[in-house]
Amino acid sequence: MSKSSNVLLGVCGGIAAYKSAELTRELQRHGAQVRVVMTRAAQEFIQPLTFASLTGHKVFTDLWDSSATTDAAAVIEHIAQAQWADVLLIAPATAHTLAKLTHGLADDFLSAAYLATEAPVVLAPAMNGNMWNHPATRANVLALEQRGHRIVAPESGYLACGTTGDGRLADTETIVRAVLDLLNPPRDLAGETVLITAGGTREPIDPVRFLGNRSSGRMGYALAAAAERRGARVIVVSAAATLTPPPRCEVIRVDTAQEMHAAVLSRLPEATIVIKAAAVADFRVCHIAPTKLHRDGPLTLELEPTEDIVRSVVEHRRPGTLVIAFAAEMGLDIARAREKLQRKGADAIVLNDISREGLGFDSNRNAAVFLTEDSVVHIPESSKDDIAAQILDQVPSLRSHQEVALQLR
Ligand SMILES: Cc1cc2nc3c(=O)[nH]c(=O)nc-3n(C[C@H](O)[C@H](O)[C@H](O)COP(=O)(O)O)c2cc1C
Repeated sequence: MSKSSNVLLGVCGGIAAYKSAELTRELQRHGAQVRVVMTRAAQEFIQPLTFASLTGHKVFTDLWDSSATTDAAAVIEHIAQAQWADVLLIAPATAHTLAKLTHGLADDFLSAAYLATEAPVVLAPAMNGNMWNHPATRANVLALEQRGHRIVAPESGYLACGTTGDGRLADTETIVRAVLDLLNPPRDLAGETVLITAGGTREPIDPVRFLGNRSSGRMGYALAAAAERRGARVIVVSAAATLTPPPRCEVIRVDTAQEMHAAVLSRLPEATIVIKAAAVADFRVCHIAPTKLHRDGPLTLELEPTEDIVRSVVEHRRPGTLVIAFAAEMGLDIARAREKLQRKGADAIVLNDISREGLGFDSNRNAAVFLTEDSVVHIPESSKDDIAAQILDQVPSLRSHQEVALQLR
């Protein structure tokens, strides 16, 4: 933690408000000084006393507290706290507060402090899935993102309202990571151009059907967003049809393995790092039916192997371009992954165990092993944002290892 580690934590009125207590503890564990602001609605869910006990500091709940005093020397508390903050974190951020921030309303302590602070802002929304997907909320989140605030997107899962969908507060570790990144922004990828593939390719069978896989593209997008924050220029070749593109990244949309292969090779000369996070089909249909196939009896599809994108990248890369491949396997077979690493000629391979329930494909969480020729780094289960950051943490040592190897040649 740097010397600047004052986190002003805004807590809004949502069910997830209780999670802000654990968040406070985690931020403190990482060395942050935490002070808490609660909206009126937040106090319906959790008592200020909880945060006062955790932080050893008064909790700010009322804009009028300090101004009501007759003491001429009294500070205007929301301005003082806005200036004290090195980061303003609002978690959970309600739909209502997001709307207020978007429009600059300032009728309570939190919204007034937001306007008064020059500190970077992290927003971790949590709400019912329909509230999150409502065009009003979408527009507000986009506006806040474009204002330069870091949105820690809610996750998919079981929601307190009894439904399942997007809207659950992101993991504590993901929110803490976002705050730490702002307090100690690593810019270790400045000057790099990172080419990332994401999502699962689709191989057409006929005009309406395809062979696909369960990859959502979340891991690739998390890597893209993290690399961009660390200063890299990022190009994403994406077969992820439904995700919101990572901010400030160039996104090239593709469907098939062949299209992904062509797009990657055409942008490869610009890349200094290539991360192959996409789940690329291994086979495609030899003869795509020109019209929709009918259920007239048994059907046999003849398949042929698709292009090996990693191998092409390794063959055509400029000297010095790092290549990080991915392997999705049933189980953590490190020997097999290392054999794949050597066979493909990549510099590192990220091994995902897809046999574990709730991890990997179509999930917000993952666990991985980062393998090079002579090292094994276990990345324990965490959010994909956090895993992405830990993968990128490996780049400097990969780079220096490569420089030594080039010198020895
Ligand atoms: C039981 C209950 C749960 C709620 N949960 C949420 C929530 O998770 N997210 C949200 O945006 N609003 C939620 N609301 C609505 C907010 O509390 C309401 O919009 C309030 O005005 C928010 O005020 P604030 O943004 O100043 O905290 C909930 C309301 C109730 C009654």
